[in-house]
Amino acid sequence: MCGIVGYIGSKDAKDMVLTGLQQLEYRGYDSAGIALVHNQEVKIYKDQGRVEHLRELCDFAFCSHLGIGHTRWATHGVPNKINSHPHISNNGRFVLVHNGVIENYKKIKYTYLNEYTFYSETDTEVVANLIEYFSNQGKDTRDAILMSISELEGSYALLVIDQKDPNKIYFAKNKTPLIIGVAYDGVTIASDVIPLAGHCDQYVGLEDKTFGYITKEEIHLFNYFNKEISLKMKNLDLKNNEFGKGDFDHFMLKEIHEQPSIIRHLIQEYFDKEKINISPEIIKCIKNCTKINLVACGTSMYASYMAKYYFEKLCNIPSEVFVASELVYSSPLILDKPCFIYLSQSGETADSIAVMKKFMDKGYPSIAITNSVASSMAHLATYHLDIFAGKEIAVASTKAYIAQIVVCAILAKAVSGQKTNLKNNLSKAALAIEKILEDKILIKNIAKEIVDATNVFYIGRGIDYWVCLEAALKLKEISYIHTEAFSSGELKHGSIALIDRGVPVIAICTQEGTNSIVRSNLIETKSRGAKDFVFAMESMSEPSDDFIIPNVAHYLAPIVSVVVCQLLAYYVATLKGNDVDKPKNLAKSVTVE
Ligand code: AGP
Ligand code: GLU
Repeated sequence: MCGIVGYIGSKDAKDMVLTGLQQLEYRGYDSAGIALVHNQEVKIYKDQGRVEHLRELCDFAFCSHLGIGHTRWATHGVPNKINSHPHISNNGRFVLVHNGVIENYKKIKYTYLNEYTFYSETDTEVVANLIEYFSNQGKDTRDAILMSISELEGSYALLVIDQKDPNKIYFAKNKTPLIIGVAYDGVTIASDVIPLAGHCDQYVGLEDKTFGYITKEEIHLFNYFNKEISLKMKNLDLKNNEFGKGDFDHFMLKEIHEQPSIIRHLIQEYFDKEKINISPEIIKCIKNCTKINLVACGTSMYASYMAKYYFEKLCNIPSEVFVASELVYSSPLILDKPCFIYLSQSGETADSIAVMKKFMDKGYPSIAITNSVASSMAHLATYHLDIFAGKEIAVASTKAYIAQIVVCAILAKAVSGQKTNLKNNLSKAALAIEKILEDKILIKNIAKEIVDATNVFYIGRGIDYWVCLEAALKLKEISYIHTEAFSSGELKHGSIALIDRGVPVIAICTQEGTNSIVRSNLIETKSRGAKDFVFAMESMSEPSDDFIIPNVAHYLAPIVSVVVCQLLAYYVATLKGNDVDKPKNLAKSVTVE
């Protein structure tokens, strides 16, 4: 995925677009580029590297009032200058930025564009030339764009400038997000709401298969039948400072620290004394199903394991976790009446969206649990629950993981109708996290002991194993140290061969029933030279343990033990001098398959 921003208005378009791109860099940062209209001409600046580098390239004095920009996460073509956006059509008339993947770009090339020269390896450049192709057939720009996007298969959020009419920004949207914000000074169009914050007081999230154009004064939106459709603007009351790092060095550390307050906020949002504020339709949808299929990716998938635990233990409904990208091309055995629950922080993950569409087309209800009510999944799903975690900027997900688990615990309680001590236990968990945050120095010291490792292993069983999966992902994705999670009993069936002298093995022990066996498995690694660490719940801790996790309800242990692992990953990555918030090769929301 990537970030795209367009601005047209009385403010300086260069500053509006570059600042917006920097706020969207979490979506991809392989390269960046901008196109600015000045004296009815379009000037393009682009290069490999970050937006800050692009800002240095744009060291000119002229003022522009119309611009589009792009910060890239490469899907087709290496991250270099020629593959960076904006791309230009052969005759130089159409300038375009794109978020997404054009799946049939090769077919379009040989069907329509054999006479065209291509300079980049990207799928995007095909779109610029296709618009030119239809324009050369005598179509006006709007029709040329409609004919072009009608040929496209795949995902796209497009912004286009026509050099012959450089007072408009054309746009088109299918499967990747595009939001339009309006303010007194002009119009901003972007991949996410952040660049609108503090500028715009109204916004609209565009639906799939819509296109149109914006001018200084107007927004025109059409469907693919070329029929103009009305804009359902909503009020936007986000302040710009909501997206700053505050006093923290990184967004990730800020977001780790936000976790206690997010738990408390979720208690307020979902509990009205003992009543739970979840719509009866959602409760009924789950109660009526005979199986719950949980579908997600990455951290959201690891949070889904706890959802499975809650639905089985509290609601007695068989539940299964699926890797979204697997279900795009295969189907689980479906007996009777399943319901599909999708956990997704962004609500824009292409793999998850593809599965949601596939099984909704088969008539199965979908519940999306996301961090964005304006997201594609929130829009598409039969039902939606918000995790209220606030914007998560760091690519490595932290607060969303905890919020997803909390919402699923509350949802399972609501479906079960059981009296539980969940509300109080959640409050205790928030306090426990605050205690851990006070003891960060202990974790920083552990980080120093593993920073030079080439392999790290997390081991645990059951609930603790599921936390190990998330802990391993956190460590590897920001420290770049190869880290694996093992169900501790599985180690001896082969993987223990990987244990060498000094290899760090970290055991997570928060569950009474498995505490001693996990410790035994840890000793098996220690006797083969491993450098062993134990993160244990206070009630089962031993004097030699490396970190004591404050006692919480066993079924909430993951939202507390994970904080130790989040901080460990953070400190290892900072010790290594890595870009914690924007790790290499990654993007915050993977809106391509
Ligand atoms: C988590 O730290 C990663 N950034 C990644 O695994 C992420 O969880 C995954 O891409 C799913 O994203 P989503 O929750 O927005 O669907
Ligand atoms: N597919 C396009 C490319 O590789 C756009 C990728 C993106 O969304 O950043 O350039």
